[in-house]
Amino acid sequence: MTPLRIAVLGAGLIGKRHIQTIMAAPHAGELVAVADPVADPRAFDLGAAAWFTDATQMLDRVRPEAVILATPNALHAGQGKLACERGIHFLVEKPVTATLDEAADLVRAVDDSGVKTLVGHHRRYLAAIQDAKRRIARGELGELVAASVVWATRKPDPYFDTAWRTQAGGGPLLINAIHEIDMLRHLCGEITAITGMTSNARRGFAVEDSAAASFAFANGCLGTLICTDAGFSPWTIEQGTQENPNFAFTGQSAYRVIGTQGSLEMPVLRHWGAKIPGDIGWDRPIAATDITVPWHDPYIAQLEHFQRMIRRDEPAMVCVRDGANTLAATLAVAQSAAQGRPCAPRIF
Ligand SMILES: NC(=O)c1ccc[n+]([C@@H]2O[C@H](COP(=O)([O-])OP(=O)(O)OC[C@H]3O[C@@H](n4cnc5c(N)ncnc54)[C@H](O)[C@@H]3O)[C@@H](O)[C@H]2O)c1
Repeated sequence: MTPLRIAVLGAGLIGKRHIQTIMAAPHAGELVAVADPVADPRAFDLGAAAWFTDATQMLDRVRPEAVILATPNALHAGQGKLACERGIHFLVEKPVTATLDEAADLVRAVDDSGVKTLVGHHRRYLAAIQDAKRRIARGELGELVAASVVWATRKPDPYFDTAWRTQAGGGPLLINAIHEIDMLRHLCGEITAITGMTSNARRGFAVEDSAAASFAFANGCLGTLICTDAGFSPWTIEQGTQENPNFAFTGQSAYRVIGTQGSLEMPVLRHWGAKIPGDIGWDRPIAATDITVPWHDPYIAQLEHFQRMIRRDEPAMVCVRDGANTLAATLAVAQSAAQGRPCAPRIF
């Protein structure tokens, strides 16, 4: 398969990771250009790629066939539309856009243009998650009953020296829990109702430092989420996978998915099922089976999938419309907390 002629917009924290991913996976992508008005190109290994300070100029001069939007949230909708107008496929970082109205606008532009889109919920490509997803689809857990996820870590105090991280939208709901809510949708299906509570009691910023939410899924399954950046714990998916070098490895699971026939812990994959097949009940012995899956870098897996989407018409793991549904469910947690009642997320 020919590598994608790909460009990156935004060379900050995550843009750098995308640039490194492309350089590490030349079979999947050829980095043709990067655009960032502020970052210093000398900080990157760019190969033969050109550097621009203006995104539009880059798109028009280089005409990449695909682009990764790794820019601040407020720019995603506008830059996504620039790509649509030029017939350039794009991978946009999460959240897909800053607001639901922008998401609706972008979904329309994508539908009109026919470009292929992917949203950067990279955890869907973790080998443990892919294995769990297959087991759930095969019915190994029976019918899904409930799922619970914890994302709890203590961000270092200097993290909050950047002012926007203390204001609305800069908290763990939109930055971190959005990945967990995307994962709950991925594993358990569409969310129909959400109850949320938020607290800023530990850090005292305008934005939440903690959130709790419960979810009803269309298939009758229920779910819960605890998310905090103020609590020191071993339970985040990052700590269980070594996916992010900034997190100390604990080897603990952060997810539990419970079915009528058995349960799964993730990302340390452990299946709990009847010791004697079919012999199920609270007085019956239950056995744990640890499942080993080979490690692969989820960012490389995401890029390879993006390549197959464009070269082989593989359906997107999470397109802009799907990403908009994850954003709607995440914002509904905050909306429910503000209104003190359950909310139904907007469905795109
Ligand atoms: N998938 C993940 O786990 C993950 C992790 C971190 C960030 N993100 C998302 O990635 C996006 C970027 O976050 P970040 O932490 O890298 O931010 P950042 O502030 O570190 O980087 C953003 C970069 O965009 C550049 N930029 C600003 N305006 C631009 C423009 N018009 N054209 C091109 N570049 C421009 C900035 O100069 C900066 O270098 C956000 O949407 C964020 O939510 C996703």
